Parts: sequence; C-alpha cells; structure tokens
Amino acid sequence: MAYETIIVEVEDHVATIALNRPDALNALNSHLLAELAQALTEADANDKVRCIILTGSAKAFAAGADIKEMSEKTFVEMFLGDFFEPAIEATAKVRKPVIAAVSGYALGGGCELAMMCDFIIASDTAKFGQPEINLGVIAGIGGTQRLTRYVGKSKSMDMHLTGRFMDAEEAERSGLVSRVVPAKKLMEEAQSAASKIAEKSMIATMAAKQAVNRSYETTLTEGLLFERRLFHSLFSTEDQKEGMAAFLEKRTAQFRDR
Ligand code: CAA
Repeated sequence: MAYETIIVEVEDHVATIALNRPDALNALNSHLLAELAQALTEADANDKVRCIILTGSAKAFAAGADIKEMSEKTFVEMFLGDFFEPAIEATAKVRKPVIAAVSGYALGGGCELAMMCDFIIASDTAKFGQPEINLGVIAGIGGTQRLTRYVGKSKSMDMHLTGRFMDAEEAERSGLVSRVVPAKKLMEEAQSAASKIAEKSMIATMAAKQAVNRSYETTLTEGLLFERRLFHSLFSTEDQKEGMAAFLEKRTAQFRDR
C-alpha cells in the first residue's frame, strides 16, 4: 500500500513506520492519522512482523495535532469528526510490541502518540511537551491521563499548565522514556531492541504486553491474578518447553510461536 504521509518498511520481522510530513514537523492531520491507523493495523496482521517501531525525523517525532487543520473547527465539527479516534483505537488494538523512537520534538499529540506506544527510546535531542495550553486548549489524545501515569501528578501538572518542554535527560529521569542515546544511534538502538523482541516467542511478548498494560486498568490483586493466569497458560505452549529446555541444554532457544 502506497502512503503519502508515512513511510513503512518491513525488514527482519520489524515494521518501521516513519511519520513523514517534514514541512509541518510531522503534525498529525487527519490524513496522516488515517494512514497511521491503517499501517498499524496491517503491521499487526502481517505474519512477517514481530515488532513495530514508530518514528519521525531527526527534527521531529511529531509537533502535535495539525493546528492549521484544527484552528477554524467548531465544537460540533470536532465532536462529530473525532478525527483522532481511528489512530487512537488502532494503536490501542495493536497486540505486538510497539517501540517509539523519538528524536526532536514530541509535542502535544506527538508526545501523546509516543506515550501510546509500549516504550519510548529517545535521542539526546528529544523534547517532550504538552503545550496545548498556549493554544487555549488542553491535551486531547490522552496527555493528561498518560503523562500523569508516567511521571506523576506534580510534573504532569507542570507540563500541562506551563506548556514547557522536557529534554531527554529529564524525560529519562522521570520515567517517561526507557533509554536515551546519541541522535545518530537512535534507529540503531530501536532496531536492536526490536530485533531482540522479535527473537522471543511472540505468544510470550504479547502476553507480557497485555499483563503490563493491565496494571493501568485494574487493582493490584486483580492484576496479579491476571498475570498469574497468563503465566500458567504459557505452560501449554511448545515455546515454554523449548525456552526452558534450551536454557538447560545451554543453547539458544528456537521459538516457533506455538
Ligand atoms: N501543526 C501544524 N503545523 C505545524 C505544527 C503543528 N502542530 N508544528 C509546526 N508546524 C509547522 C509550522 O507552522 C511551520 O510551517 P510553515 O513553514 O508553513 O510556517 C513548520 O511546521 C515549521 O515550524 P516552525 O517554523 O514553527 O519551526 P521552529 O523550529 O521555529 O519551532 C516548534 C518548532 C517549537 C515545534 C513549533 O513549530 C511549535 O511550537 N509547534 C506547535 C507545537 C504545539 O503547540 N503542539 C500542540 C498542538 S495541539 C495538539 O496536539 C492537541 C492534542 O493534544 C490532540
């Protein structure tokens, strides 16, 4: 499928989706969001894909929702159009692991999109922010909820109320990103992480993702039970037998997703 606002490549079991509206710092307009929703859905359904990387350019992961497209909209148009919804839903539905590789600006909807991924690897040039307050609005695709869960109330309030940006070092210190690497190494690091994930049993990586995500949605007791049941259920897979046998035989496991 030929896309106009994103670039999709599949190589060695990893799908890389790069946002590609360089003239607008990858601002998320409805066309891009629709293409992103489709690319994520396709990658999730593609048997060759075992991990997905979502990235932007060196200058911007994404500078937010497209202000030009939104500026004249009315409440009714925003409410009925709900043009963020397909991408939000498609991202939430992806069962395979998704890594955000962030360089440059990840602002507003860009920061929110990165936070919808399973974890964020940032370059040392990354800048995160929820500057919607400067536009007379607030975050609209999860920023107030997800950033608060990532970094806690105080810093989240600071970011949402002042609209200031957070650099990569602060983002790592605050738990927003999992690793920071020099800008030149960003894609190498993301690909290496994705390749490592792609080597595992996909049944186990999908179960791990489900279990971690459940921790946001439920009580500790229910979450622990959910995890335990998933853990038990993995003993019905050939991959569990292979993984444990390989350890005992001091060889590399050959997982077959069975
Ligand atoms: N929407 C539309 N266009 C955008 C954009 C956005 N969010 N961000 C940048 N652009 C465009 C600029 O208009 C400019 O286009 P022109 O050359 O045609 O004028 C081009 O990208 C380059 O931008 P700048 O000249 O501003 O580049 P800069 O390096 O001087 O500044 C920046 C970079 C600090 C990121 C600045 O562009 C900026 O502040 N952008 C807006 C960030 C923002 O407010 N994001 C939140 C959007 S609202 C939102 O996301 C709501 C939500 O939660 C769903």
